[in-house]
Amino acid sequence: MFLVTGATGTLGRRIVRVLCEQSASVRAFVRLSSRYSELEQRGAEILIGDLRQERDITKACQGVQYIISAHGSNEASGSAQELDYRANIDLIDAAKANGVEHFVLISVLGVDRGYEDAPVFKAKRAVEIYLQNSGLNYTILRPSGFAANLIPLAERFRQTGIYLLVGDAETRTSIVSTDDLAEIAVKSVSAPGAKNQAIAVGGPEILQRRDIPKIFGRIFNTEPIVINAPLVAIDGIRTLVGFLNPEAQRSLGTFRTLLANEFYITPAEVQRLEQIYEMRLETLETFLRRYVSL
Ligand SMILES: NC(=O)c1ccc[n+]([C@@H]2O[C@H](COP(=O)([O-])OP(=O)(O)OC[C@H]3O[C@@H](n4cnc5c(N)ncnc54)[C@H](OP(=O)(O)O)[C@@H]3O)[C@@H](O)[C@H]2O)c1
Repeated sequence: MFLVTGATGTLGRRIVRVLCEQSASVRAFVRLSSRYSELEQRGAEILIGDLRQERDITKACQGVQYIISAHGSNEASGSAQELDYRANIDLIDAAKANGVEHFVLISVLGVDRGYEDAPVFKAKRAVEIYLQNSGLNYTILRPSGFAANLIPLAERFRQTGIYLLVGDAETRTSIVSTDDLAEIAVKSVSAPGAKNQAIAVGGPEILQRRDIPKIFGRIFNTEPIVINAPLVAIDGIRTLVGFLNPEAQRSLGTFRTLLANEFYITPAEVQRLEQIYEMRLETLETFLRRYVSL
């Protein structure tokens, strides 16, 4: 039995799909307020709970062989401290108590760079260390930005032809196909090269941010209009938000860190990934063409 947390999220939903297609037994940890009917229809066992409640985590881990932790914090659901840190620590403790065979943690690329202003990065790094010292078999996946994040932007571009680019247009990124990442997460419990490893995960190509509107332009056959806003615009918004909501101001620190830095994997890391998981990684363009309506 697999336990998947964040099962209604962008990634978690795809992980559950992959497992159900393989007829694996899967328990999906969802909130009562989540949209989980698709998961149920696919054959997943639904466990309703809140990851901020330790007793729900204890219940969810009973009889489980593998855990894939794919949840994450956002403004509405809880803080980085509660979800990216505490819930994962509780999951790891419950995994140990239940003799779980393998724990897969979705972390983030650059987690080990010591970004002080990014609560999610700090929480995930602390969890990585806790997991590595837990005695459990584990795989830590450190993905770059998800291709699925760009689907709504592509849909908006289709209507307007406009792309808002915040920050330096030359910043490099290797956006990962969220479908590839779901497959990688599932294969991590059995791929020998993934055991007790922290693995950087990205797409097969290093893009500059300015390449993204060009890709949209190719897909929709439209010359893109790019509006380039400086990063200080985010700083201004952050200061304003801080007067009203200090917690949101802290969360925006993670967002700013993502915009201000480069997140890409090297060709050697691409090769390592493809070898460990015996797959070819798909490009951003291939992924998007499957999801956007033309
Ligand atoms: N998105 C990216 O570009 C990116 C890049 C690198 C790493 N990551 C990491 O990858 C993971 C998955 O990201 P994602 O974009 O797929 O996340 P997402 O779409 O925001 O999904 C978050 C999931 O966590 C669940 N959740 C939130 N609070 C919860 C609570 N209190 N109790 C139970 N479940 C709760 C949400 O449930 P609801 O449906 O009920 O809200 C949802 O299923 C995260 O750890 C994230 O940090 C993401």
